[in-house]
Amino acid sequence: MNRIGVLTSGGDSPGMNAAIRAVVRTCIYNEIEVYGINRGYEGLIEGDINKMDVSSVSDIIHRGGTMLRTSRSKQFMKKDGLKRAVDMITNFGISGLVVIGGDGSIQGSSVLGESCIPVVAIPATIDNDIGFTDISIGFDTAVNTVLDAIGKLRDTSSSHERTTIIEVMGRKSGAIALYAGVTGGAESILIPEKESDINEICKKLIQGNNRGKKHSIIINAEGASYSSDELSGLIMDKTGLEAKVVVLGYVQRGGSPTARDRMVASRLGSKAVDLLKDGLYNRAVGIRGTELVHYALSDALKMEKAIDTYNLELAEVLSI
Ligand code: F6P
Repeated sequence: MNRIGVLTSGGDSPGMNAAIRAVVRTCIYNEIEVYGINRGYEGLIEGDINKMDVSSVSDIIHRGGTMLRTSRSKQFMKKDGLKRAVDMITNFGISGLVVIGGDGSIQGSSVLGESCIPVVAIPATIDNDIGFTDISIGFDTAVNTVLDAIGKLRDTSSSHERTTIIEVMGRKSGAIALYAGVTGGAESILIPEKESDINEICKKLIQGNNRGKKHSIIINAEGASYSSDELSGLIMDKTGLEAKVVVLGYVQRGGSPTARDRMVASRLGSKAVDLLKDGLYNRAVGIRGTELVHYALSDALKMEKAIDTYNLELAEVLSI
């Protein structure tokens, strides 16, 4: 293993730069050449590839986003695109590839693995919806971004005696909503994994209002039972209470990564290089508890991520 390539793919997440830095520095430490592939699989197909050195990743550990940029490549999903990607890897003499990204990107890495390109995948998505790891890079930072927004919105909701519906990202996962909702003390949390009952939500709002509660925070995951505007309208119609909607959107994808995300990213990035160096290919690296783990990509991709039911009940109990 004398030359490793690294790319980031799919939705970016805070901590990707820390992972890139760990890959580059671990390669150089082990006297392995390292090449950065810009713009994910799209850049790979186009040969947008540059050699990196120790200073290529200076001063990036604290920066959100990805210095290699990223893409959601439609070309790569096609046979011709995949062939061009494989040829480009061969042309550049790359003997191993580290892919940093979410579920779709990791599936793409397994296709390269099946085309005899040694790969190791690193889970990076704010959604934290990847089955083979307890935590994916970016999730902790995104939750803390939502927490910061909850704090600010609680102030103004309280001043105006309003209910505020905060819509968060997560695609089909309620992980951000649940974690931020519990730690932010939200009155209700709606997630895709569990059908919500508008009458229960309204009953809780009215009970709170009757006991003098002057405001409420509702966390609505983007894939949950109701759209945020629908939820707001139903609350207004059923309770007469004013419910404002705030869609956090892409702020959840940015910002300086937390210490936790930087540590997770550094460990996973370095481990990925170690595996390639030791001839352990077509693997996915993750965290279970406090331990680094790695699985065959084919097994990793079959692993599902269920919502933490204890935290779901905890949310119910603590928001009475
Ligand atoms: O997967 C990360 C994510 O931010 C999801 O939470 C969100 O639904 C999606 O990406 C948005 O995709 P795009 O960046 O393509 O708009």
